[in-house]
Amino acid sequence: RQGSSLNMVASESLKAPGTAKMDTPWNELGFEFRPTNSHIRLTFKDGEWGKPELVKEPYINLHIGATALHYGQACFEGLKAFAHEDGSVNIFRPDENSKRMQNSCERTLMPAIPTDVFVNACKEVVRDNIEYVPPYGSGGALYIRPLLFGSGPKIGLQPADEYTFLILVIPVGDYYKGGLSAPVDGLLIEDFDRAAPRGVGNVKVAGNYAADLLPNMLGKKKGFPIGLYLDAATQSMVEEFSTSNFVGINNEANTFVTPKSPSVLPSITNKSLMTIAKDEGLKVEARDIPVEELDQFDEVLAVGTAVVVTPVGSITRFLEDGSEKKYEFGEQNGEIGETTLRLYKKVRDIQNGEVEDTYGWNVKV
Ligand code: COI
Repeated sequence: RQGSSLNMVASESLKAPGTAKMDTPWNELGFEFRPTNSHIRLTFKDGEWGKPELVKEPYINLHIGATALHYGQACFEGLKAFAHEDGSVNIFRPDENSKRMQNSCERTLMPAIPTDVFVNACKEVVRDNIEYVPPYGSGGALYIRPLLFGSGPKIGLQPADEYTFLILVIPVGDYYKGGLSAPVDGLLIEDFDRAAPRGVGNVKVAGNYAADLLPNMLGKKKGFPIGLYLDAATQSMVEEFSTSNFVGINNEANTFVTPKSPSVLPSITNKSLMTIAKDEGLKVEARDIPVEELDQFDEVLAVGTAVVVTPVGSITRFLEDGSEKKYEFGEQNGEIGETTLRLYKKVRDIQNGEVEDTYGWNVKV
């Protein structure tokens, strides 16, 4: 099927969500790569984007001089499609991911994908892989991963003349094992920075994640699945988690607090939660969060497309004198914090079509 036309391939497989043969039950999926029917691909050549093509083979034939390989001219996105009870499949806020990718392209001198092309390509690739959308009620989603990168050769430091945009899809469950019912333990990362204030932390470029691989692995070896970065300039303010944004809840003050920093990635899940929290009567504060303020949060959440709303049970800080300080969050009896539950339920109910989508966030494929 490689190279075959979009319409030819798309018409072959209009099946139902959750009908693909899987080696793992739908409700036990984690966050791993799995093969599906196809990905969608567009090439930018001679100053314009070509037509989208569905491609079966999960390989690309890439020039050895591609700027993505040498100079990291590459960005990506993450969004999800959900099956509803009526059998429809809906993508959550794809226009927002499109805008964020356009910002990444602007910062790295890559040609942007127009929003209508982006959203239609997402719909098309989800439709061609519809049987891999986890069924309604399974708790899973079809993760949609758009990539855009310089595929043309340059060896002097400059942008490529040719680009590739592709979208792959993977059925997923919880990013952190146990999901909502298993709070993760975090480590305050103080030996490394994620991103400089005027660098590329606010755009979703591949290199930001390469920079986190070592700190992430070192933290995991010490028993901390998630790492929390401080701001690179002063090393005193909470920045973001390795995989996701930071949210602190102070129940007495009724506040939802999230860092305002030029180097934090603007999470679409966080943006959605801020809207929901405001409508639920919480005071939403986007501001500097001194690390000492961790003591004042009753609940801490890691929020993002992949992690959704993951409760953080604790954050450990290793102090210079060799001692450690552990900030603990959530209910004393091991229950999930009430505000975490409320926010999680509201956003998941919208995504799963359990409540009316008054915000207009769901886009039917
Ligand atoms: C996402 O949440 O979609 C991301 O891209 C984060 C990644 C570490 C899985």
